[in-house]
Amino acid sequence: MTNQIQTLITQMTLAEKAALCTGDSRWTTTEVERLDIPQLLVSDGPHGVRRVADIHSLAQKSEPATCFPTASSLAATWDVDLLYEVGQALAEEAIALEVDVLLGPGVNMKRTPLCGRNFEYFSEDPFLAGALAVGFINGVQSKGVGTSLKHFAANNQEFERFSINAKIDERALREIYLAAFETAVTKAKPWTVMCAYNKVNGTYASEHQRLLTDILRDEWGFEGFVVSDWGAVHNRLASLQGGLDLEMPGPKEARVQAVINAVNNGELDEALLDEAVRRILQIVFKAAETPKGGSFDVAAHHALARKVAAAGMVLLKNNGILPLQNPESIAVIGRSAQEPHFQGGGSSHINPTQVDNPYQELQKLAGPAGLTYAAGYPTDDTFQQELIDEAVVLAQASSVALLYIALPSFKESEGYDRPDLDLTKQQVALIQAVTAVQPNTIVILNNGSAVAMSAWIDGPAAILEAWMMGQAGGGAIADILFGHTNPGGKLAETFPLKLSDTPAHLNFPGENGVVRYGEGLFIGYRYYDAREQAVLFPFGYGLGYTTFAYSNMQVSASTFQDVDGLTVTVDVTNTGLVAGQEIVQLYVHDQESRLVRPTKELKGFAKVALQPGETKTVTISLAYRAFAYYHPAYQQWITDNGQFDLLIGASAADIRCTAVVTMQSTLTLPTLLNRDSTIRTWLDDPLGHGILLPFFQKLQAQGAGLIGSEDGLRERYGENSMALVMDMPLLSVLHSEENSLSLSPEETVNNLLQQLHRS
Ligand code: BGC
Repeated sequence: MTNQIQTLITQMTLAEKAALCTGDSRWTTTEVERLDIPQLLVSDGPHGVRRVADIHSLAQKSEPATCFPTASSLAATWDVDLLYEVGQALAEEAIALEVDVLLGPGVNMKRTPLCGRNFEYFSEDPFLAGALAVGFINGVQSKGVGTSLKHFAANNQEFERFSINAKIDERALREIYLAAFETAVTKAKPWTVMCAYNKVNGTYASEHQRLLTDILRDEWGFEGFVVSDWGAVHNRLASLQGGLDLEMPGPKEARVQAVINAVNNGELDEALLDEAVRRILQIVFKAAETPKGGSFDVAAHHALARKVAAAGMVLLKNNGILPLQNPESIAVIGRSAQEPHFQGGGSSHINPTQVDNPYQELQKLAGPAGLTYAAGYPTDDTFQQELIDEAVVLAQASSVALLYIALPSFKESEGYDRPDLDLTKQQVALIQAVTAVQPNTIVILNNGSAVAMSAWIDGPAAILEAWMMGQAGGGAIADILFGHTNPGGKLAETFPLKLSDTPAHLNFPGENGVVRYGEGLFIGYRYYDAREQAVLFPFGYGLGYTTFAYSNMQVSASTFQDVDGLTVTVDVTNTGLVAGQEIVQLYVHDQESRLVRPTKELKGFAKVALQPGETKTVTISLAYRAFAYYHPAYQQWITDNGQFDLLIGASAADIRCTAVVTMQSTLTLPTLLNRDSTIRTWLDDPLGHGILLPFFQKLQAQGAGLIGSEDGLRERYGENSMALVMDMPLLSVLHSEENSLSLSPEETVNNLLQQLHRS
């Protein structure tokens, strides 16, 4: 195929090549009939196939497809295999709907719970997001349908998303904001990557040569094509030169003409255009190998959506009321029991094949229990006391109240960020009023990201986080409430106590066109850990109808080399009365490192199914990167010798077993000493230490101050000034010893640095 594509490129006219690099419609690439080059059809994405019948239309309702739970819910399953299964089902639907590439998954970080689009993203943790994306992408692509990993990079807010300049330091970029992309690209090879709208450190993502070429292709080995987010291209030449192959949407004749002109007048190297064409053609022909058409199994996919929705639901609180034990009467309160809120607004909006009505699904499982219903809150942001009064009457008259609370789309959607973490005023008042009269109240939440609960959390007997749960979520809720399914989901994001506690609070959403990622590496639990700050529910947290005990943690070696990595095992026992699944999390803490590191970081996890009383040994491997961090000065991932704590937890705040291991770094790194280096850094540097002290001794012998050793320095400068001296540049210290030097202080330091580089 590679040769055939090369031949084709030589046969294509400049106009045809330019046209191929710009969409022909909102959803297709340009067909070149003359050369039998078919068009490629893409569709959103990510949790369902949004295939519009008329590819030129923006607003048209899409063909029916299964709406699976959105990414927040998928992530809370912590189940890579299940995401693979969802990916396969999505691909089957894409094939039936004649779609070549599904526009997803989204692996942007949940930097703040306020991001309106968090429902489409997996996690605040790049390791988890990366692992889940791999499952998803592999699932879709195993069936011959492509994916588009998005939005590359740093699209972590909706406020001014088309233009905001995300200012991120190199370590945070590498360790947090690029890491999930890196995992997905290197391990799952998505066919395409979609660039973000925003700027990253001053350059539009759509023109970002460092991101799109140097890092994505040269470092990570990405072989597919880069597509723009819809409307993200500002300067077509700059974007082509940066590494963006396909501009979407089209048609855009002026853009095509601009590329033709640029080649003709020598502004754009035609070889660069050929390269973009080659990348696009490669995917166009790969996609064409998958025969399209036919149908998909609507019922089976709906059943899968139900299974996944249940697996992603997180039981946040339960005083023992759940699972329900044959209540006599149930007051079902809350509009979303009849009008389910199961997906988010914006480009991912799916036209579902069918939708479970939560109320009716309850009724199917409720047996003889009598059900009553009250809407509880309006569709808009008005306050309607009479709806609350009506609900209270029903709740009082029933043995159990189920409160279905959905965060409305006007508070959370693609396109804008949330103003706060709160439910609507009416919803809060409703929960307070109902729980005041009915202690057996269970709150069921539908939302895409963390909500604050302090105003009402003490009221209900149980809280179930059901997320934007997909079209079959109504049934999944019923399954969990009645104990047909044991909830096994855990949070992939921290639920903070209040907005002002959140990591990006003082740096969000930015102003004057810039958002500064001032919290650096410290997002999510990394921040709450470092600040020792209490949270509402920690990362990795979730209850179930059984309990698990952890024991017998073992490591494959107590001392190991970074390149060899380690294997950790732990026994997990189901100590309760029903079958369940536990999500075992492995965090790594570096005891000592040259640069600041988070208190702990997730570096492995496993999900294990256990019958009551059963024990299984869980094995988790840790490779080089589990111990490494990105060092901007070395421009690489480095390891430091030393001890690491390995922490096995049921959540980030519930560590059950620990082990200490010693790692030996195999790296030999060049020295970073330079003219600005302090005495301390000279002495800390193994080579520098060996050069500086003999030099001082020589000076001392020549009658300079007593500075031939650390003790000598201490004596010379006195204990108090010592700390100050240690943090002074060598050059400045030498200035005060100028009379004892044969050369100028500058020449002396240069000589020492040369000596260092020779050794
Ligand atoms: C969104 C993308 C989406 C594209 C096409 C954009 O506005 O940011 O996620 O894939 O539209 O609908």
